[in-house]
Parts: sequence; C-alpha cells; structure tokens
Amino acid sequence: MSDKEHTYTNGEVTIVWKPALCTHSRRCWTGLPEVFKPGERPWIRPDGADTARIAAQVRNCPSGALSLREPAAEAVPDGPANRIEVSTDGPLLVHGPVTVTLPDGRIEHRTGRCALCRCGHSANKPWCDGAHRTHGFRG
Ligand code: SF4
Ligand code: FES
Repeated sequence: MSDKEHTYTNGEVTIVWKPALCTHSRRCWTGLPEVFKPGERPWIRPDGADTARIAAQVRNCPSGALSLREPAAEAVPDGPANRIEVSTDGPLLVHGPVTVTLPDGRIEHRTGRCALCRCGHSANKPWCDGAHRTHGFRG
C-alpha cells in the first residue's frame, strides 16, 4: 500500500491525510465543512476552524486517513486502544496499535486507526477503500 501523505498546516496544527487509507466516509467534510472541502484544491483548509475543533474532527475519521502531528495530537484524548468496531454497512474499524500480517508475509504496524474491508469489494485489500458504498453492501 502507498504510504503517500499530504500535510496541511496553519502554523499551530498540522493535519496529515493519507489518501490510500481514506474510505470516503464523508465524515470530515460533513462534520467540519469549514476545513474539509472535497471540491477544492487544496481540499483541507486548516485555517477554517480552531485547533480543538480540528482535533476533534480528525479523531472522528474512521479509517485513520486523517491524523495530527504533535503536539496537537494531544489536544483530544483517543478512545481505548486495541478494539474492533463493526461499522454498519461498512468496514471493520480497528483501533490500534495493531500489527497486520499480509498474505505475502509483509507486516504492517498501525499505531492509530485502520479500516479492514468487510464487503469483499475493496481494490486495496485488506484495507477498505470505500467500495462498500458503491456496491451497496449491507451487513
Ligand atoms: S475516511 Fe477520514 S479522510 Fe476519508 S472522508 Fe472519511 S473522515 Fe474524511
Ligand atoms: S468494507 Fe469498505 S471496501 Fe469493503
């Protein structure tokens, strides 16, 4: 999987977005449209809200595609680690840290959150790529 990441900073907080992990849940842009604007380039505008609101919204990203660079990452405490959440009609949301062994033997370590495909349609297995939505997965 690509480790490519994009960063967006306002000098106080740096938002990190990893496109390969994004499941296109829409949570960020429906939750904080002042900052997350999918129709614009750049699509993340960290000067659109204060640090506390940005940190809270980033914590709400189900896939781990969004994260914050320290020290802002400390602004809002995360939930309990090492738990799996079965999302409605969507992926398994894994709250790390967790180690994933891939079929070819490669090992990936995830310190934050990640989303595992549950519908079988992802083109980026085992990770969810949002395809459950276009395939109308129910479960
Ligand atoms: S997965 Fe995260 S970054 Fe992608 S749309 Fe949802 S909240 Fe935004
Ligand atoms: S659960 Fe999201 S692509 Fe399969």
